[in-house]
Amino acid sequence: MSFFAPVPLAPRDPILGVTEAFNADPRPDKVNLGVGVYLDESGRIPVFASVKTVKKALATDLAPHSYLPIDGFAPYNAAVKELVFGPELAASGRVATVQGLGGTGGLRIAAGVLAGIAPSAKVLVSDPSWENHESLFSRAGFEVGHYPYYDPAGRRVDVEGMLACLRAAAPGTIILLHACCHNPTGYELAAGDWDAVVAACAEGGLVPFLDMAYQGFARSVAEDAEAVAKFAAAGLSFIVATSCSKTFGLYGERVGAVSFAAAEADEAARVLSQAKVVVRSIYSSPPSFGAKTVASVLATPALRADWEAELGSMRDRIKDMRAAFRTGLEQAGVPGDLSYITHQTGMFSYSGLTPEQMRRLRADFGVYGLESGRLCVAALNPGNLSRVTEAVAAVIRN
Ligand code: LMR
Repeated sequence: MSFFAPVPLAPRDPILGVTEAFNADPRPDKVNLGVGVYLDESGRIPVFASVKTVKKALATDLAPHSYLPIDGFAPYNAAVKELVFGPELAASGRVATVQGLGGTGGLRIAAGVLAGIAPSAKVLVSDPSWENHESLFSRAGFEVGHYPYYDPAGRRVDVEGMLACLRAAAPGTIILLHACCHNPTGYELAAGDWDAVVAACAEGGLVPFLDMAYQGFARSVAEDAEAVAKFAAAGLSFIVATSCSKTFGLYGERVGAVSFAAAEADEAARVLSQAKVVVRSIYSSPPSFGAKTVASVLATPALRADWEAELGSMRDRIKDMRAAFRTGLEQAGVPGDLSYITHQTGMFSYSGLTPEQMRRLRADFGVYGLESGRLCVAALNPGNLSRVTEAVAAVIRN
């Protein structure tokens, strides 16, 4: 009998598996609102003008392809650190930043480091959260639980429930938070709520771990990092995973990072040494193209300004699509208050549709979203909007 004979077939990934099913669908007018990828008016992933400029320059650079250091391209790590933490903390030496394979890779490096430091700690993720959070931390050996986050009846964040859960958590519990553009719900904590979360983490001796994959998609690059600034101002030790997939449109280049904000520089250096042990044992060192591209954009003032402006117009386009989607549903006679569509932030609308309705959306109309009801409104455009709106209205009506 083959060694592999007893291996069971794993289910498709709840997000990337939707893209697999979408790609296999022969219908020409199908629409993929599953994965969190920004598409422009014509339904394509845009290449930022700033990224194009750097790509052209890199294409003429015939330097040898040596290994990057284990922790990645130093100018990239420095630029990301400043983007996430601001210049003062970035210069303090208290933060160790490691290049990762996308935001997921950053999360995984940190999970490996945490498994070495605190293997019996429990990880709490929001209910609901990005599907991969739970799987990533469980496979790193952690027991994963949930804190209340979304209140479906009130279509709001259950701040009271969340805080009560955090206040009851054992010291050392790792709390996975979404710094902005909560995935999948799009509901954010208000500034005062963040203060209360920071206080609960400080008082309870919890380990805050912020996932910030969408910096710049809610308000602005600086404003979306305000939660990070609050944890830093409270003097806490915490972790931040970041991604350049959406913010630079570099999805396939797998460029992200994880940063460890420690109490002082020597501590940060020791944590960095542990992160390098984790990286070396998984993939040795990261690829260079995406990191060099991002570093160059961020280090060149004109390109950086251009990048922020382009990110701003993407944000505005998503807001326009939210408004048009909401109006379309209202005009199609969908009952109830649909203001949640324009109230949510980031790439997703948490529609409240049931798994059964989402399956019908896919089977009957070729509109693909997640079973959780999450729809990527960043993939809406004038060409597919009415089709999506009619399909969603139809599944809601019957
Ligand atoms: C998403 O939530 O769709 C993205 O973060 C892509 C992914 O890796 O799941």
